[in-house]
Amino acid sequence: MKNLAKAIRDKQAKIAVIGLGYVGLPVACTFAQAGFQVLGVERDKTKVAQIEEGICPIGGREPGLAELLTKVIRGGKLQVRSDYTGCQETNVALVAVETPVDSVSKKPNYEALRAALAALGPNLRRETLVVIESTIAPQTMQNVVQPLLEETSGLKADKDFYLAYCPERVMPGKLLANLRTCNRVIGGMSAQAAQLARELYRHIVEADLDITDSLAAELVKTTENAYRDVQIAFANEIALLCENVGADVYEVRQLVNKSPYRTMHMPGAGVGGHCTPKDPWLLVHGAEGRREPRLIPTARAINDNMPLHVAELAEDGLAEAGRAVKDAKVAVLGYAYLENTGDARNSPTIPLVETLEALGARVMIHDPHFAEYDIGLREAVADSDCVIVMVAHDEYPATDLADLREWVATPVLIDGRNVFDKERARELGFIYKGVGNW
Ligand SMILES: NC(=O)c1ccc[n+]([C@@H]2O[C@H](COP(=O)([O-])OP(=O)(O)OC[C@H]3O[C@@H](n4cnc5c(N)ncnc54)[C@H](O)[C@@H]3O)[C@@H](O)[C@H]2O)c1
Repeated sequence: MKNLAKAIRDKQAKIAVIGLGYVGLPVACTFAQAGFQVLGVERDKTKVAQIEEGICPIGGREPGLAELLTKVIRGGKLQVRSDYTGCQETNVALVAVETPVDSVSKKPNYEALRAALAALGPNLRRETLVVIESTIAPQTMQNVVQPLLEETSGLKADKDFYLAYCPERVMPGKLLANLRTCNRVIGGMSAQAAQLARELYRHIVEADLDITDSLAAELVKTTENAYRDVQIAFANEIALLCENVGADVYEVRQLVNKSPYRTMHMPGAGVGGHCTPKDPWLLVHGAEGRREPRLIPTARAINDNMPLHVAELAEDGLAEAGRAVKDAKVAVLGYAYLENTGDARNSPTIPLVETLEALGARVMIHDPHFAEYDIGLREAVADSDCVIVMVAHDEYPATDLADLREWVATPVLIDGRNVFDKERARELGFIYKGVGNW
């Protein structure tokens, strides 16, 4: 351990980062920038080729990442491969592959995680520190990660190698900044592993690195995202109640939050991304037992229903304008799940579009962060019967409503993100319906 600790301290340790997505790529670049020699291992060969060229595969606005990637690739500090043999030369392996849930059973789908560990095992050398960064269900370190690594490597955790869990807290749009400034929790499978992981992350994290055991760390990560999901579901429920009585949920929220210890979240057109819609299920699954969870699954159902609610608002708006949804041209603004990003994983726009198309609408999607939908806003909304805002990309609130009114055929405006001024929209003749505000 002394040798490894020294190598980490002196930045002589070589680091493998397995999975170069939203998490792994910025992690690899940041350690390379800090002075470590980094090997990225990524199974998607197209991505490997792009990264080797110094091209950032992550779309949307991601401040500093593309420049940093080019710099560390050109400087030779980051190398990328699709096979694992290079891991025989590394002293640290960080695993950041996707960990989705099954779309029907909602149980964890660890295909990527298992494949990564099974490929790492035979290439794992003694005295290596392995850290899982992916979000995993409680008890996964003990029941899946450790046994699989031991079986495939023939080595014993704590005796021959060190194992820890250090989940990420980054958000697309702020990946590099979040990596540096967010507090992290480290769950060691042993006290030594936790100490080594802390030494390592100290080089890139300028915030707290709290040590605990792996079960607590797994619970912390999944709980923090379940917390957010439940809070958003609460805000969405209040939004629906405000619609019942014709009130403005955004005004209600603002005034509620003036009361001490109240921090009501933002309601909206749905919750997307790789993490928030699935991490509550990882928590529920990993903590299964005698007591049934009730609130978390209910919150999931409320949030999953929001895009369908938006479709209902569109139907209502069109009906007020004397039009049926069938054959109406509907312009949907925003394909990403989050503003100013190119991340469409679990985007609420997907079920909204499916619902509208099932009702017979002709849907046109606009999104400046996806080549296939970057068609120009004017062209996207031209002659439409209904415009639906699903994402608050900067372009949308910057659009003059008077121009929008001129471009559309039927003035129905459904605002899923409180982007437009309701009064002004109505003055201009729009039938305006916002989530929680009409
Ligand atoms: N996206 C986020 O903002 C975020 C934030 C915090 C935590 N997380 C968690 O981090 C993990 C990774 O998320 P992500 O958004 O980076 O996912 P991602 O899909 O963007 O990246 C995962 C990468 O791993 C690669 N991969 C999969 N299996 C592999 C294997 N066996 N060997 C090598 N490469 C492999 C994939 O090709 C992909 O490029 C997940 O567990 C997620 O829940 C994500």
